[in-house]
This record gives sequence, C-alpha cells and structure tokens, in this order.
Amino acid sequence: MPRLQVIPADYANGTLEPRGLFETAVRGVWLEIGFGAGEHLAAMAKAHPDVGFIGCEPFINGVARLLVEVEQNGLDNVRIVVDDAGLLLDCLATDSIDRAFLLFPDPWPKRRHNKRRFIGPNNIAAMARVLVTGAHWRMATDHRDYCRWMLDHMTTAPDFGWLARRPGDWRIRPEDWPPTRYESKGIEAGRPPVFLSFERLSPNQVKDAP
Ligand SMILES: C[S@@+](CC[C@H](N)C(=O)[O-])C[C@H]1O[C@@H](n2cnc3c(N)ncnc32)[C@H](O)[C@@H]1O
Repeated sequence: MPRLQVIPADYANGTLEPRGLFETAVRGVWLEIGFGAGEHLAAMAKAHPDVGFIGCEPFINGVARLLVEVEQNGLDNVRIVVDDAGLLLDCLATDSIDRAFLLFPDPWPKRRHNKRRFIGPNNIAAMARVLVTGAHWRMATDHRDYCRWMLDHMTTAPDFGWLARRPGDWRIRPEDWPPTRYESKGIEAGRPPVFLSFERLSPNQVKDAP
C-alpha cells in the first residue's frame, strides 16, 4: 500500500504533477472522487492500462476492497488518496488531470446539509483548475434533487459545458462506463440513475445555452 498511496500533505499547493506518480509513462491521468468499493475504478484501470488512475476515498473499507482488485489483477496504474478530495485538488498542478469521475456522491438530502455536497462553486472552480481543456467530467446520481443541483451548478459554471444532446445521453449509462454498487442500490430501490457528462471548456470557448 505505501507504494500506491499518495499523501496530499507531502505536496505544497499546486505542485503535484500526477504523471510522475506512475512507474511507466502514461498517456493521461484520470481521477475518481469517492470511489466507494472501487469497482468502477478497477474496471477502468483494467480497460485502460496506458492511463494512470488516482482514486480518492476516505472510507478505509472501500480502499481495502480496491486494493484486493489491484493485487488480483496486477494493476500498476492505480494510485490512492485515503483522504478528502479537497486536499488532493489543492495540491494537484494546474491542467494535470485528463478525465474525472464523481459517481453517486453522498446526496446530503436535508436542506440544511446541502452545503456539504461535493458539487458547489468551490469544488467546481478547483476541478476547472486541474482539468485540461477538453477533459470530460462524468458524474452520476440517483437522487432527484441532487441531479437538479448538479445541473443548476454545472450549467451555470462558465468553465463547463454539458455534453447531453438527447434524453438517452443522460438516462442510459454509456457502454464504456462501468456500473457501481450505488447504481445497483438505486435501481433496486426504484431510483433510476442519471449519467451526466461535462466538458472542461477552453477560456475563450462560447458556452451553449443550458
Ligand atoms: C454514496 S458513496 C458512492 C460510492 C461509489 N462512487 C459508488 O458509486 O458506488 C459516496 C462515497 O464518497 C466518499 N466521499 C464522501 N466525501 C468525499 C470527499 N470529500 N472526498 C472523497 N470521497 C468522498 C464516501 O466515503 C463514499 O464512499
């Protein structure tokens, strides 16, 4: 585990160049925030051996599950932050992440707790800083109010454009997007998931109307 673990406190703000975390050259670095038990991250790392993956998850049981997958499949393209994603975002270099995933984040349903949701102006700005222009940020939720919240925040953020063109684009999980435990839980409970993909726009790109 020490070889795989990235400790944000080891890096000053903006100094972590994530490509340097991997022993062999990678064509890009993809970040998953709150990977849970790690099934999406492990499947992606298997499918894309030439990409470096950073997974961020403070829940130690989930980290242990991912480590089993990493070990059993000999994945050498995975690195793990066992901490709050905010700390990682602070230390990452600008324009250093090529794709990001935020799948079924905690919905914090009570109105007085809404501010704890990962999606909010500060984290959106932090993600905009670390994502390269053209990078895709995929997110999913089975919580109707959080879906509205995500869309409200992301479609009004100047740095991101929503990639959906037709209902199937957000209702149907793309084939190259592995399912997760929380997606299954939502479906079993009668809460259909939504799959939202956004693009990091270039500074002078004109944003489509939401
Ligand atoms: C509802 S679970 C979803 C897990 C997984 N993505 C899935 O779809 O099965 C949300 C996960 O986000 C993690 N999490 C919550 N806040 C976080 C943060 N600030 N940084 C990183 N992970 C976080 C939690 O520990 C939890 O495992």
